[in-house]
Amino acid sequence: HFPPAPGDWQVAGTPSRTQLVGTDPHSGVTVTIDLAFSNADVLTMRTSITNTGAGVFDLERCMAGTMLAPAEATEALTFDGGWGREFHEKREALGSSIFLKENRRGRTSHDRHPSIVLGRPGFGDAGGAVFGLHLGFSGNHLIAVDRLDDGRRLVHAGELFEPGEVLLAKGETYASPMAHIAVAANLTSMAQSFQAHVRETILTWPDGEMRPRPVTLNTWEGNYFALDPVSLMAQAEAAAKLGIERFVLDDGWFGRRNDDTSSLGDWFIDERKFPKGLKPLADHVIDQGMEFGIWFEPEMVNPDSNLLREHPDWALQVEGRPLLLSRNQLVLDLTRPAVSDYLFERVNELLSTVRVAYIKWDMNRDLTHAGDAAGRAATGRQTRAFYALVDRIRAAHPQVEIESCASGGGRADYGVLSRTHRLWTSDCTDALERQTIQRGASLFFPPEILGAHISASPNHQTHRRHSLSFRALTALPYHFGLELNPLELSRTERAEVRGWIALHKRLRTALHGGRAIYRDAGDGRLVHYVLDETGATQFVFIAQMTYGLAEQAPPLVLEGLDPDGAYRLSLPGPQEPEFFRQTPEQASMLRGGIALSGALLSEIGLPIPAMRPESALLIEITRTRKGR
Ligand code: GLA
Repeated sequence: HFPPAPGDWQVAGTPSRTQLVGTDPHSGVTVTIDLAFSNADVLTMRTSITNTGAGVFDLERCMAGTMLAPAEATEALTFDGGWGREFHEKREALGSSIFLKENRRGRTSHDRHPSIVLGRPGFGDAGGAVFGLHLGFSGNHLIAVDRLDDGRRLVHAGELFEPGEVLLAKGETYASPMAHIAVAANLTSMAQSFQAHVRETILTWPDGEMRPRPVTLNTWEGNYFALDPVSLMAQAEAAAKLGIERFVLDDGWFGRRNDDTSSLGDWFIDERKFPKGLKPLADHVIDQGMEFGIWFEPEMVNPDSNLLREHPDWALQVEGRPLLLSRNQLVLDLTRPAVSDYLFERVNELLSTVRVAYIKWDMNRDLTHAGDAAGRAATGRQTRAFYALVDRIRAAHPQVEIESCASGGGRADYGVLSRTHRLWTSDCTDALERQTIQRGASLFFPPEILGAHISASPNHQTHRRHSLSFRALTALPYHFGLELNPLELSRTERAEVRGWIALHKRLRTALHGGRAIYRDAGDGRLVHYVLDETGATQFVFIAQMTYGLAEQAPPLVLEGLDPDGAYRLSLPGPQEPEFFRQTPEQASMLRGGIALSGALLSEIGLPIPAMRPESALLIEITRTRKGR
């Protein structure tokens, strides 16, 4: 009797939106499938199940969507990795058995990103015909690819339930998360579709529109827990002089938090560190012409906290089982209204007394054996309660922007992004690692919502040393900022950072609204370029990752140029390119001394000198004469 026979489906909708409703009186279930097609050529699909029968309906599985992918799409690209190494690409050949990925970490995760791309073997930035899917959900999920007899693939994606997790009372409905599907000629056009889709249908900005992304300084790597208001005020002054527009106070300002062993849950200002509260610091930041932002990790609690001492039952736990710590912390049971009310009240109080424009919302552990007070599995309800808490804070403070962070990019999905404004892409700020992390993230997210900061050298995570130029050019196309103590910069470094920030401000409208083209340009080079809205200027970012093989790197073939137009090149900002050698002609060409035709650039390509490994280049290509 299930699913309903074809004739039993009711179909309604408009050309871009369809709703299918099927009722099965025998099982006492109504299935509603909502399909919509966005302007960005992305199909969204959501499935809801309503219990129309008499008793309780135990829902064991409900995919958000099931889609057909072509038979020739026999290669799967998924993203694994770990802390500090998000969006690590994994390629696998699909066989005749089921291909299954399950995420049981209770958050989006670093190693099971809720997305998959299928294509012809070897598909890439420029070809291969791809089918891309992303599930907009921040809890447990599964993605499965099944093979039909004729070779085509059925791709399923949905929330992953534990036994008994979803019991529908009479009349109750389960609504799945949303699956987002793009079918494209190659990875670049898939990325363009998903990025446009996020811009048009996922993000919800205060006042309805994104403003230029404020250049940010985040205090974490420059201070860690050692927060001192005198130094922070001096850092704020130095930051403002560099051109910073948003100053974010990271972990360490509350409870008695000297390290990560205590105080999560005690969202009261630490008066030992801030005897006059946070207002003087926030006001000082605002007086310097910047916005003030602050870090919270609302869903978490340390056993060493007043909150857990007062409410030992507030931890998400299965009674009788040991409480497992991760980063010395436990998860709060947000499915209890008292817990969510407490958290709302704490965040609300701070936002009502200090002029906060931005929250960095962190989440630093997995949910393991997450059970509610009744002992029932609760990951899905906990995830929805987290969404509800964010929504409640946004409703009370509609001008405040929120960043989604989970030990870096552990909660990067369209579910959370539909209620937040930025992702902290990774806790690894090493420029070399960031090149591939950001590149992977760009398949699903537009650059303006991916946080990317210049941090100190040697890098705190990898201990690699990189030039300021490589660090700056790696972060520049994204939501740009600094992750260091500006007082520790030398006078020359300050001048250079000021130059990079000024360059970012000049280019951000073009970079954050344009269509990016991604290319693996061979010989260890990752390239991406963005055409500005007028079509007159193109920005080409080249990162030399490894030592190139060729003495003269292969010419860089560009797209989107007017074949009959004439173009000149320049190297904007405080760049000192790191070439092995360059001919006088190349030097002149890169500084605008030679006009090049659009046809030459798109057919023969640009002869860039060989670059040193772990260096980057930004070329601005400007049309000086229009074609006929
Ligand atoms: C997480 C975040 C970092 C920082 C620390 C603070 O690891 O990803 O950016 O905020 O927590 O404890």
